[in-house]
Amino acid sequence: MTGTDAPLLSHPDRNLALELVRATEAAAIRAVPFIGRGDKNAADGAAVDAMRKFLGTVDFDGVVVIGEGEKDNAPMLFNGEHVGTGRGPACDIAVDPIDGTSLTASGRRNAISMIAAADRGSMLDASSVFYMRKLVAGPEAHGVLDIRASIGENIRELAKKLGKDVAEIQVAVLDRPRHEELIEEIRAAGAGTRLLLDGDVAGGIDAASIGGTFDLCVGTGGSPEGVATACAIKALGGFIQTMLAPKDEAEKAKGLEAGLKFDHVYTADELVTSDNTFFVATGVTDGNLVGGVRRKGGIIRTESIVLRSHSGTTRRVVADHLASKWL
Ligand code: FBP
Repeated sequence: MTGTDAPLLSHPDRNLALELVRATEAAAIRAVPFIGRGDKNAADGAAVDAMRKFLGTVDFDGVVVIGEGEKDNAPMLFNGEHVGTGRGPACDIAVDPIDGTSLTASGRRNAISMIAAADRGSMLDASSVFYMRKLVAGPEAHGVLDIRASIGENIRELAKKLGKDVAEIQVAVLDRPRHEELIEEIRAAGAGTRLLLDGDVAGGIDAASIGGTFDLCVGTGGSPEGVATACAIKALGGFIQTMLAPKDEAEKAKGLEAGLKFDHVYTADELVTSDNTFFVATGVTDGNLVGGVRRKGGIIRTESIVLRSHSGTTRRVVADHLASKWL
Protein backbone atom coordinates (compact mmCIF):
# COMPACT_ATOMS: atom_id res chain seq x y z
CA MET A 1 0.00 0.00 0.00
CA THR A 2 1.28 3.44 -0.84
CA GLY A 3 0.25 7.04 -0.34
CA THR A 4 -1.69 8.72 2.41
CA ASP A 5 -4.33 5.95 2.56
CA ALA A 6 -1.84 3.54 4.15
CA PRO A 7 -3.30 2.71 7.58
CA LEU A 8 -0.39 4.13 9.53
CA LEU A 9 -0.57 7.43 7.66
CA SER A 10 -4.33 7.88 7.67
CA HIS A 11 -4.66 7.06 11.40
CA PRO A 12 -1.32 7.72 13.07
CA ASP A 13 -1.71 7.20 16.79
CA ARG A 14 0.26 7.19 19.95
CA ASN A 15 3.08 4.77 20.66
CA LEU A 16 2.81 4.20 24.39
CA ALA A 17 6.11 2.33 24.40
CA LEU A 18 7.98 5.51 23.52
CA GLU A 19 6.85 6.84 26.91
CA LEU A 20 7.28 3.58 28.82
CA VAL A 21 10.90 3.45 27.75
CA ARG A 22 11.67 6.26 30.21
CA ALA A 23 10.71 3.89 33.02
CA THR A 24 13.05 1.10 31.89
CA GLU A 25 15.84 3.64 31.33
CA ALA A 26 15.36 4.92 34.87
CA ALA A 27 15.31 1.41 36.32
CA ALA A 28 18.49 0.48 34.45
CA ILE A 29 20.29 3.65 35.53
CA ARG A 30 19.32 3.15 39.17
CA ALA A 31 20.51 -0.46 39.11
CA VAL A 32 24.02 0.52 38.01
CA PRO A 33 25.54 1.13 41.47
CA PHE A 34 24.55 -2.43 42.34
CA ILE A 35 26.19 -4.14 39.36
CA GLY A 36 28.70 -6.63 40.65
CA ARG A 37 27.95 -5.92 44.33
CA GLY A 38 26.53 -9.33 45.11
CA ASP A 39 23.16 -8.11 46.35
CA LYS A 40 20.43 -8.90 43.84
CA ASN A 41 17.56 -7.68 45.99
CA ALA A 42 19.20 -4.27 46.45
CA ALA A 43 19.66 -3.99 42.67
CA ASP A 44 16.06 -5.04 42.05
CA GLY A 45 14.77 -2.71 44.78
CA ALA A 46 16.46 0.31 43.21
CA ALA A 47 15.12 -0.63 39.78
CA VAL A 48 11.58 -1.23 41.10
CA ASP A 49 11.48 2.18 42.82
CA ALA A 50 12.68 4.04 39.75
CA MET A 51 10.32 2.17 37.43
CA ARG A 52 7.32 2.81 39.67
CA LYS A 53 8.08 6.57 39.81
CA PHE A 54 8.42 6.93 36.05
CA LEU A 55 5.37 4.77 35.30
CA GLY A 56 3.43 7.20 37.47
CA THR A 57 4.04 9.98 34.93
CA VAL A 58 2.65 8.12 31.90
CA ASP A 59 -0.89 8.94 30.78
CA PHE A 60 -2.44 5.48 30.86
CA ASP A 61 -4.48 3.35 33.18
CA GLY A 62 -2.18 0.40 33.78
CA VAL A 63 -2.71 -2.62 35.98
CA VAL A 64 0.22 -4.87 36.73
CA VAL A 65 -0.96 -8.29 35.62
CA ILE A 66 2.47 -9.77 35.71
CA GLY A 67 4.73 -8.53 38.41
CA GLU A 68 7.97 -10.19 39.20
CA GLY A 69 9.76 -11.29 42.33
CA GLU A 70 7.37 -13.82 43.80
CA LYS A 71 9.83 -16.65 43.31
CA ASP A 72 12.46 -15.38 45.75
CA ASN A 73 10.71 -12.72 47.84
CA ALA A 74 12.42 -10.00 45.85
CA PRO A 75 11.05 -6.46 45.87
CA MET A 76 8.35 -6.06 43.29
CA LEU A 77 5.70 -4.10 41.52
CA PHE A 78 2.89 -6.29 42.80
CA ASN A 79 0.14 -7.97 40.81
CA GLY A 80 -2.97 -5.80 40.75
CA GLU A 81 -1.01 -2.58 41.40
CA HIS A 82 -2.36 0.38 39.42
CA VAL A 83 0.26 2.40 37.57
CA GLY A 84 0.11 5.47 35.36
CA THR A 85 -1.90 8.65 35.77
CA GLY A 86 -5.19 6.79 35.30
CA ARG A 87 -5.92 8.91 32.20
CA GLY A 88 -5.72 7.29 28.80
CA PRO A 89 -5.84 3.71 27.55
CA ALA A 90 -6.65 0.86 29.94
CA CYS A 91 -3.80 -1.61 29.79
CA ASP A 92 -2.43 -4.78 31.30
CA ILE A 93 1.24 -4.51 32.00
CA ALA A 94 3.98 -7.01 32.68
CA VAL A 95 7.05 -5.66 34.40
CA ASP A 96 10.44 -7.00 35.20
CA PRO A 97 12.51 -4.09 36.53
CA ILE A 98 15.51 -6.38 36.13
CA ASP A 99 15.37 -9.61 34.17
CA GLY A 100 18.69 -11.02 35.29
CA THR A 101 18.98 -9.91 38.91
CA SER A 102 21.70 -12.50 39.55
CA LEU A 103 23.51 -11.38 36.39
CA THR A 104 23.41 -7.82 37.71
CA ALA A 105 24.56 -8.77 41.20
CA SER A 106 27.50 -10.73 39.83
CA GLY A 107 28.37 -8.22 37.10
CA ARG A 108 27.63 -10.51 34.16
CA ARG A 109 26.24 -9.77 30.71
CA ASN A 110 22.64 -9.74 29.47
CA ALA A 111 20.65 -8.13 32.30
CA ILE A 112 17.77 -5.94 31.04
CA SER A 113 14.95 -3.90 32.49
CA MET A 114 11.64 -4.50 30.70
CA ILE A 115 7.97 -3.61 30.47
CA ALA A 116 5.31 -5.14 28.25
CA ALA A 117 1.86 -3.61 27.81
CA ALA A 118 -1.31 -4.62 25.99
CA ASP A 119 -5.03 -3.83 26.02
CA ARG A 120 -6.75 -4.46 29.37
CA GLY A 121 -7.74 -8.06 29.96
CA SER A 122 -5.60 -9.47 27.16
CA MET A 123 -2.59 -10.97 28.98
CA LEU A 124 -2.74 -14.53 30.22
CA ASP A 125 -2.46 -14.58 34.00
CA ALA A 126 -0.22 -17.61 34.42
CA SER A 127 1.03 -16.53 37.84
CA SER A 128 -0.20 -19.71 39.56
CA VAL A 129 2.25 -21.85 37.57
CA PHE A 130 5.80 -20.62 37.82
CA TYR A 131 7.38 -22.26 34.78
CA MET A 132 6.50 -22.80 31.16
CA ARG A 133 8.27 -24.61 28.34
CA LYS A 134 9.03 -22.21 25.48
CA LEU A 135 9.96 -22.39 21.82
CA VAL A 136 10.78 -19.01 20.27
CA ALA A 137 12.08 -18.13 16.80
CA GLY A 138 11.76 -15.62 13.98
CA PRO A 139 8.90 -15.14 11.47
CA GLU A 140 10.15 -17.95 9.22
CA ALA A 141 9.22 -20.49 11.90
CA HIS A 142 5.46 -20.11 11.40
CA GLY A 143 4.04 -23.40 10.15
CA VAL A 144 7.46 -24.99 10.54
CA LEU A 145 8.08 -25.45 14.28
CA ASP A 146 5.96 -27.35 16.78
CA ILE A 147 6.72 -27.48 20.51
CA ARG A 148 5.27 -31.00 20.65
CA ALA A 149 7.84 -32.31 18.18
CA SER A 150 11.34 -33.31 19.25
CA ILE A 151 13.94 -30.58 19.40
CA GLY A 152 15.97 -32.46 16.76
CA GLU A 153 13.05 -32.39 14.34
CA ASN A 154 12.43 -28.70 15.00
CA ILE A 155 16.09 -27.88 14.40
CA ARG A 156 16.14 -29.79 11.10
CA GLU A 157 12.92 -28.18 9.88
CA LEU A 158 14.09 -24.69 10.82
CA ALA A 159 17.47 -25.21 9.17
CA LYS A 160 15.70 -26.30 5.97
CA LYS A 161 13.43 -23.25 6.06
CA LEU A 162 16.31 -20.86 6.75
CA GLY A 163 18.44 -22.47 4.05
CA LYS A 164 21.15 -23.16 6.59
CA ASP A 165 23.15 -26.19 7.48
CA VAL A 166 22.00 -27.75 10.79
CA ALA A 167 25.52 -27.15 12.08
CA GLU A 168 24.97 -23.41 11.68
CA ILE A 169 21.86 -23.36 13.88
CA GLN A 170 22.44 -21.64 17.23
CA VAL A 171 20.06 -22.61 20.00
CA ALA A 172 19.82 -20.47 23.14
CA VAL A 173 18.85 -22.35 26.28
CA LEU A 174 19.03 -21.49 29.97
CA ASP A 175 21.94 -23.31 31.60
CA ARG A 176 20.02 -25.33 34.18
CA PRO A 177 20.27 -28.95 35.38
CA ARG A 178 16.68 -29.45 34.19
CA HIS A 179 17.91 -28.86 30.63
CA GLU A 180 20.67 -31.49 30.62
CA GLU A 181 18.75 -33.84 28.32
CA LEU A 182 17.53 -31.02 26.08
CA ILE A 183 21.09 -29.75 25.66
CA GLU A 184 22.30 -33.23 24.75
CA GLU A 185 19.51 -33.58 22.19
CA ILE A 186 20.34 -30.23 20.58
CA ARG A 187 23.98 -31.22 20.23
CA ALA A 188 23.08 -34.74 19.03
CA ALA A 189 20.99 -33.12 16.29
CA GLY A 190 24.16 -31.35 15.13
CA ALA A 191 23.29 -27.82 16.24
CA GLY A 192 25.20 -25.65 18.70
CA THR A 193 23.93 -24.51 22.08
CA ARG A 194 24.34 -21.00 23.40
CA LEU A 195 23.89 -21.43 27.14
CA LEU A 196 22.32 -18.51 28.97
CA LEU A 197 23.07 -18.00 32.64
CA ASP A 198 19.74 -16.17 32.93
CA GLY A 199 17.44 -14.04 30.83
CA ASP A 200 15.26 -15.99 28.44
CA VAL A 201 13.25 -12.85 27.56
CA ALA A 202 16.29 -11.28 25.89
CA GLY A 203 17.20 -14.70 24.48
CA GLY A 204 13.76 -15.14 22.90
CA ILE A 205 13.68 -11.65 21.43
CA ASP A 206 17.15 -12.12 20.02
CA ALA A 207 16.05 -15.37 18.34
CA ALA A 208 13.05 -13.62 16.78
CA SER A 209 14.88 -10.48 15.66
CA ILE A 210 16.39 -9.68 12.34
CA GLY A 211 20.10 -9.50 12.96
CA GLY A 212 19.83 -11.55 16.17
CA THR A 213 22.54 -14.05 17.00
CA PHE A 214 20.33 -17.04 17.89
CA ASP A 215 18.06 -19.03 15.58
CA LEU A 216 16.00 -20.54 18.36
CA CYS A 217 15.46 -20.04 22.08
CA VAL A 218 14.08 -23.11 23.88
CA GLY A 219 13.60 -24.59 27.31
CA THR A 220 11.72 -24.04 30.53
CA GLY A 221 11.72 -20.58 32.09
CA GLY A 222 9.44 -18.26 34.03
CA SER A 223 5.77 -18.07 32.95
CA PRO A 224 5.62 -14.29 33.50
CA GLU A 225 8.65 -13.91 31.25
CA GLY A 226 6.89 -16.06 28.64
CA VAL A 227 3.87 -13.76 28.47
CA ALA A 228 6.09 -10.66 28.30
CA THR A 229 8.13 -12.29 25.54
CA ALA A 230 4.90 -12.92 23.60
CA CYS A 231 4.15 -9.17 23.59
CA ALA A 232 7.51 -8.56 21.94
CA ILE A 233 7.20 -11.48 19.56
CA LYS A 234 3.87 -10.18 18.25
CA ALA A 235 5.54 -6.89 17.37
CA LEU A 236 8.37 -8.71 15.62
CA GLY A 237 6.04 -11.03 13.67
CA GLY A 238 8.00 -13.86 15.27
CA PHE A 239 7.02 -17.28 16.55
CA ILE A 240 6.38 -18.43 20.12
CA GLN A 241 4.73 -21.53 21.51
CA THR A 242 4.65 -22.42 25.19
CA MET A 243 3.30 -25.17 27.44
CA LEU A 244 2.83 -24.80 31.18
CA ALA A 245 5.29 -26.86 33.21
CA PRO A 246 3.95 -27.27 36.75
CA LYS A 247 6.50 -28.20 39.41
CA ASP A 248 4.13 -30.62 41.14
CA GLU A 249 0.51 -31.71 41.42
CA ALA A 250 -0.30 -28.94 43.91
CA GLU A 251 0.86 -26.27 41.46
CA LYS A 252 -1.09 -27.95 38.67
CA ALA A 253 -4.23 -27.95 40.84
CA LYS A 254 -3.75 -24.22 41.50
CA GLY A 255 -3.37 -23.63 37.76
CA LEU A 256 -6.50 -25.61 36.92
CA GLU A 257 -8.42 -23.61 39.49
CA ALA A 258 -7.19 -20.42 37.80
CA GLY A 259 -8.51 -21.72 34.46
CA LEU A 260 -5.14 -22.60 32.96
CA LYS A 261 -4.78 -25.44 30.51
CA PHE A 262 -2.21 -28.19 30.71
CA ASP A 263 -1.02 -30.35 27.81
CA HIS A 264 -2.05 -27.35 25.77
CA VAL A 265 0.07 -25.35 23.35
CA TYR A 266 -0.26 -21.64 24.09
CA THR A 267 0.40 -19.57 20.98
CA ALA A 268 1.34 -15.88 20.93
CA ASP A 269 -2.35 -15.01 20.48
CA GLU A 270 -3.32 -16.99 23.56
CA LEU A 271 -0.53 -15.62 25.73
CA VAL A 272 -1.68 -12.12 24.81
CA THR A 273 -4.96 -11.92 22.93
CA SER A 274 -4.64 -8.26 21.93
CA ASP A 275 -3.04 -7.20 18.65
CA ASN A 276 -2.07 -3.97 20.34
CA THR A 277 1.07 -4.87 22.29
CA PHE A 278 4.06 -2.83 23.38
CA PHE A 279 7.41 -3.96 24.66
CA VAL A 280 10.39 -1.97 25.90
CA ALA A 281 13.72 -3.10 27.30
CA THR A 282 16.79 -1.17 28.38
CA GLY A 283 20.16 -2.83 28.91
CA VAL A 284 21.45 -2.88 32.48
CA THR A 285 24.65 -4.73 31.65
CA ASP A 286 25.96 -5.22 28.11
CA GLY A 287 24.18 -7.92 26.18
CA ASN A 288 23.39 -9.38 22.77
CA LEU A 289 20.11 -7.51 22.56
CA VAL A 290 21.05 -4.10 23.93
CA GLY A 291 24.12 -2.47 25.36
CA GLY A 292 24.27 -1.77 29.09
CA VAL A 293 24.28 1.58 30.85
CA ARG A 294 27.51 3.51 30.27
CA ARG A 295 28.90 6.55 32.02
CA LYS A 296 31.30 8.91 30.28
CA GLY A 297 32.12 12.00 32.26
CA GLY A 298 28.90 13.87 32.83
CA ILE A 299 26.82 11.67 30.53
CA ILE A 300 24.97 8.44 31.23
CA ARG A 301 24.09 6.57 28.04
CA THR A 302 21.28 4.02 27.87
CA GLU A 303 20.34 1.72 25.01
CA SER A 304 16.81 0.38 24.59
CA ILE A 305 14.55 -1.41 22.15
CA VAL A 306 11.00 -0.19 21.70
CA LEU A 307 8.53 -2.50 19.98
CA ARG A 308 4.92 -2.01 18.98
CA SER A 309 2.73 -4.60 17.31
CA HIS A 310 0.12 -2.24 15.84
CA SER A 311 2.68 -0.56 13.61
CA GLY A 312 5.13 -3.46 13.58
CA THR A 313 8.00 -1.17 14.45
CA THR A 314 11.22 -1.93 16.25
CA ARG A 315 13.13 1.11 17.39
CA ARG A 316 16.49 1.28 19.02
CA VAL A 317 16.68 4.23 21.34
CA VAL A 318 20.03 5.50 22.50
CA ALA A 319 19.57 8.19 25.14
CA ASP A 320 22.18 10.41 26.72
CA HIS A 321 21.21 11.60 30.19
CA LEU A 322 23.00 14.36 32.07
CA ALA A 323 24.48 12.55 35.04
CA SER A 324 24.01 15.65 37.20
CA LYS A 325 20.23 15.13 36.94
CA TRP A 326 20.52 11.64 38.37
CA LEU A 327 22.80 12.25 41.36
P1 FBP B 1 15.06 -12.81 37.36
O1 FBP B 1 16.37 -12.19 37.21
O2 FBP B 1 13.99 -11.80 37.19
O3 FBP B 1 14.95 -13.60 38.62
O4 FBP B 1 14.80 -13.86 36.17
C1 FBP B 1 15.85 -14.41 35.44
C2 FBP B 1 15.41 -15.65 34.69
O5 FBP B 1 16.57 -16.24 34.11
C3 FBP B 1 14.36 -15.44 33.59
O6 FBP B 1 14.84 -14.85 32.43
C4 FBP B 1 13.89 -16.87 33.39
O7 FBP B 1 12.64 -16.95 32.74
C5 FBP B 1 13.85 -17.39 34.81
O8 FBP B 1 14.78 -16.59 35.55
C6 FBP B 1 14.23 -18.83 34.92
O9 FBP B 1 14.01 -19.25 36.23
P2 FBP B 1 15.09 -20.07 37.08
O10 FBP B 1 16.22 -19.14 37.40
O11 FBP B 1 14.35 -20.49 38.30
O12 FBP B 1 15.55 -21.20 36.24
